[in-house]
Amino acid sequence: MNIKDYEYKVSAAGRVNIIGEHVDYCGGKVMPAALSLKNTVYARPNGTDKINLTWTTLPDSVTLDIGKLESYKDLKYGNYQAGSALMWKRAGHKVIGCDLHMDCTVPFGSGLSSSAAIEVSTITALATVAGEEFDPVDVALKAQQAEREFAGVNCGIMDQYASACGKKGHAMLLDCKTLECDYIPISLGEYSFVITNCKKPHNLVESKYNERRAQTEEALKALQSRLDVKCLAELTLAQFKKYSVMLPHVLKKRATHVISECERVRVAVQAMKAGKIEMLGKLLNASHLSLKEDFEVTGKELDALAFAAQNHYACVGSRMTGGGFGGCTISIVKTKHVEEFKNYVADTYYKQTGYTAEFYTTDISDGITVEKI
Ligand code: GLA
Repeated sequence: MNIKDYEYKVSAAGRVNIIGEHVDYCGGKVMPAALSLKNTVYARPNGTDKINLTWTTLPDSVTLDIGKLESYKDLKYGNYQAGSALMWKRAGHKVIGCDLHMDCTVPFGSGLSSSAAIEVSTITALATVAGEEFDPVDVALKAQQAEREFAGVNCGIMDQYASACGKKGHAMLLDCKTLECDYIPISLGEYSFVITNCKKPHNLVESKYNERRAQTEEALKALQSRLDVKCLAELTLAQFKKYSVMLPHVLKKRATHVISECERVRVAVQAMKAGKIEMLGKLLNASHLSLKEDFEVTGKELDALAFAAQNHYACVGSRMTGGGFGGCTISIVKTKHVEEFKNYVADTYYKQTGYTAEFYTTDISDGITVEKI
């Protein structure tokens, strides 16, 4: 493949979530950041009614008929692209025949939102080859729909929003109820973020994710019989304390996570703005514990990885990031001790689990970028 034969280079980012986990679909605030790990699409119109897909990492090519996009749900490769094109088309946008060559540097199944990066960049590429202006928030919403309807994950908006609207050097404080987003400069002083993959193969993640989401909805429904709230994130800790007795044990635990995590996000914003990195680290540790004990989405490997990190003297905090059940942790580590930290964590983690952790070097980056080649 020769890049010069294409007309546009379109990218959308993977993301890491700093804090605010499993609260986006409960109307909460989240604090993700877009990464320089991303999906890039080289695109050109081809004058047909077909979308031809190729990949840098795969020998296969896939052709999608624009008139039959709904029939590609079960494709091994190309289903995210088909779903994204379908949702964009259904929303009344022009989808024209084109060649799309994909180059994804977000590791698959890592919890760093490779799927959101693929969906968002595909829609952006389609809009670009068709000569359409696009609103990144609208792209994110259609990408989320593709994830729900094509990948079967009843996800919130965090990943696709971060992938589309991220800003270099900034964390995003996204209110998932209103879709308002404040950008907070990331200045960690003598610290850096370290992202580590536990490398445990994922399985049944979609169904476990959907089950957790359904439990939060059930908890909300029960609480709404006594309280005038539209989402779990609206409850104060005091209100929850008073009314949580009415919830069955498991639902109470799920809601406890959501409401306490929303509070941690509020404090984390203050810590981040004031440069109180050690305080931010403590909140990350508390978030992990809550995801382990109350939301139960961590598992043995993510726990081993986060606790190994938390035990290292140069680390002020570590937690799982993303949906859970595998994937990555985010840790805040003194920059000058990062190499030593990685060796310690890799070693401890391997001894406990038999898996070889992987560390990523990545920056906080922009969401969507479009270049004419
Ligand atoms: C996945 C989903 C997001 C969010 C996170 C958990 O990444 O796609 O919408 O719910 O899990 O915070």
